[in-house]
Amino acid sequence: MTPAETVLGAEAERREGREKVTGTARYAAEYDSPGRAHAWPVPAGVARGRVRSVDAAAALALPGVLAVLTHENAPRLAEPDDPILAVLQNPRVPHRGWFVALVVAESPEAARSGAAAVRVAYDVEPHDVTLTAAHPDAYVPENANGGHPAVREQGDPDAAFAGAQVQVDVEYRVPPLHNHPMEPHASTARWDGDRLTVHTSSQGSNAVRTALAAAFEVPEERITVHAEHVGGGFGSKGTPRPDVVLAVMAARHTGRAVTVAFPRRMLPAVVGHRAPTLHRLRLGAGRDGRLTSLRHEVVTHSSRIKEFVEQAAVPARVMYAAPHSRTAHRVVRLDVPSPSWMRAPGEAPGMYALESAMDELAGEAGIDPVELRIRNEPETEPDSGLPFSSRHLVECLREGARRFGWAERDPRPRSGTDGPLLLGTGVAAATYPVLVSPSTAETRALPDGGFLVRVNATDIGTGARTVLAQVAADALGVALDRVRIEVGSTGLPSAPLAGGSSGTASWGWAVHEASVRLAERLAGLPGPVPEDGIVAHADTTGRADAEVPYARHAFGAHFARVAVDPVTGEVRVRNLLGVYAAGRVLNARTARSQFVGAMTMGLGMALTEGSTMDPAFGDFTESDLASYHVPVHADVADIEAHWVREDDPHLNPMGSKGIGEIGIVGTAAAIGNAVHHATGVRFRELPLTPDRVL
Ligand code: MOS
Repeated sequence: MTPAETVLGAEAERREGREKVTGTARYAAEYDSPGRAHAWPVPAGVARGRVRSVDAAAALALPGVLAVLTHENAPRLAEPDDPILAVLQNPRVPHRGWFVALVVAESPEAARSGAAAVRVAYDVEPHDVTLTAAHPDAYVPENANGGHPAVREQGDPDAAFAGAQVQVDVEYRVPPLHNHPMEPHASTARWDGDRLTVHTSSQGSNAVRTALAAAFEVPEERITVHAEHVGGGFGSKGTPRPDVVLAVMAARHTGRAVTVAFPRRMLPAVVGHRAPTLHRLRLGAGRDGRLTSLRHEVVTHSSRIKEFVEQAAVPARVMYAAPHSRTAHRVVRLDVPSPSWMRAPGEAPGMYALESAMDELAGEAGIDPVELRIRNEPETEPDSGLPFSSRHLVECLREGARRFGWAERDPRPRSGTDGPLLLGTGVAAATYPVLVSPSTAETRALPDGGFLVRVNATDIGTGARTVLAQVAADALGVALDRVRIEVGSTGLPSAPLAGGSSGTASWGWAVHEASVRLAERLAGLPGPVPEDGIVAHADTTGRADAEVPYARHAFGAHFARVAVDPVTGEVRVRNLLGVYAAGRVLNARTARSQFVGAMTMGLGMALTEGSTMDPAFGDFTESDLASYHVPVHADVADIEAHWVREDDPHLNPMGSKGIGEIGIVGTAAAIGNAVHHATGVRFRELPLTPDRVL
């Protein structure tokens, strides 16, 4: 085989792996320059009110402190599109942790001491941070996140439910969750005259540049934003965050390069969270388990300054055939931090609730839960009626069941034991939409026989550099080691963010197109490649295919095996197995890592992760990794990710679907269903911590 036949899908190693493990990869806070200063924000100490006064005298008297910015002296911003970026512009405090001052100093330590010395007085107002399903301020928004209509209804779901032979009417609750990437949010900014250079930890630097240009009223051409290495984001870095605005402000105010690196404890209030969701599901079915009525209704919260509605009832519009359905969202605006994207927003909490309720339906109807899902496979997308570009959920369920040994399962709850432990197994389905955005890219042939791909993709730890080089090598028909790649700067051809599991599809489409064009030009080239190379550009809308009316989604099936200690209430996941249908897998190594990583995050969602909104203080109580428990190695005994072959001609030239998020979808339900199977008790609130399970 030629290299070109093997390069796409190969287990190529991460190109930046050595830099990362040897510590030479630089992150946003590590871009030093002579005279660089450091800034430390001062978070509001009340949940609602106004800043009456800021006394900065003691802070300014400390050694090394250069300036204290407040709403009275900070540079004015043009009103940003995203209200969370309007920092230090007015005295209003919309939630606890909102920044009310920024101390700039010679060192991080001096800035931190300065921040502790700033005295802020407030006019305090009563706050309300408590979400309830019957909250009087709950309303139906126009849209949920992602532009999805808040409410969809087909047929007469109430009458169909009332007349159903089997009924499940249950409520599930998912707490607020936090992204907590390994690298907290950080930015370094420097003005050189009217030119601005920024290093920031972001999932997409073109969007950061656009936001800064608008806020500071500077043409985009005078701004360069770099995001070379990013230590994870999980959605919290999908939009610009206050660190970058504060760094640019402080740099303008002081004339110095300034770094703002948030300590982890500030993150919960200012970089978004998965909003809590209260679910009510009413599933009506015949004795054969076929759904006649499906209702999924969600209540969630958002902040005073921003309407963000977790679209948790949206996956129910994709999953199962039901002639009568209602999927609806309501939201309550509270004095809480602004929620935002967290890995599989909508799908992760929504499929926890739906797939748990489907397990309850299987129990009520006396039908195997794998079989129940297969019986409810739709012919076309239930909500839209569109044909699926491809849908291999049944294959995922069957292949997963085979690998997992599902056939040996005794369906009776509390039937499995291991000494004093109760054993159980569970299954849940997964889905995530196939998204794509316009991108540009260029590929250059170099006189030394190599190729250089340039695209402002962002590698947030996923291996984007590596897979895009594979896409180029495949399109060029050359060995992978002949392709070099530059990503992570707005100085490169512009590209969309690493988000919505759409990065590889969007950037890859442009890289593929530029590389194919270049290969064509090289084929017609009479002589050698000239000194400055030959370059081909591509500008893909990513929409050519999207105009063809197909419902495009990835699917998957998760299987979990748990052991529950009835004395301590401890749940241990013995193994997790996922099988995915996600189009063509472009790099088996990095894809497996993404699936396994997301399943691990789903394990955390099921068992350990959760943020508690303290009604007295209006604050998330778990603000560090000592209290917000993400899974550690000891929690992750055995995780396997597999995929079925899926050739879908209605996607992009690579034939890939997104893989970054689907691994977290349904994982918590599979674990919860296994806990029910082990214990015979249905827990309907996450996480399944020992105090709840006992
Ligand atoms: Mo993801 S929540 O789209 O970064």
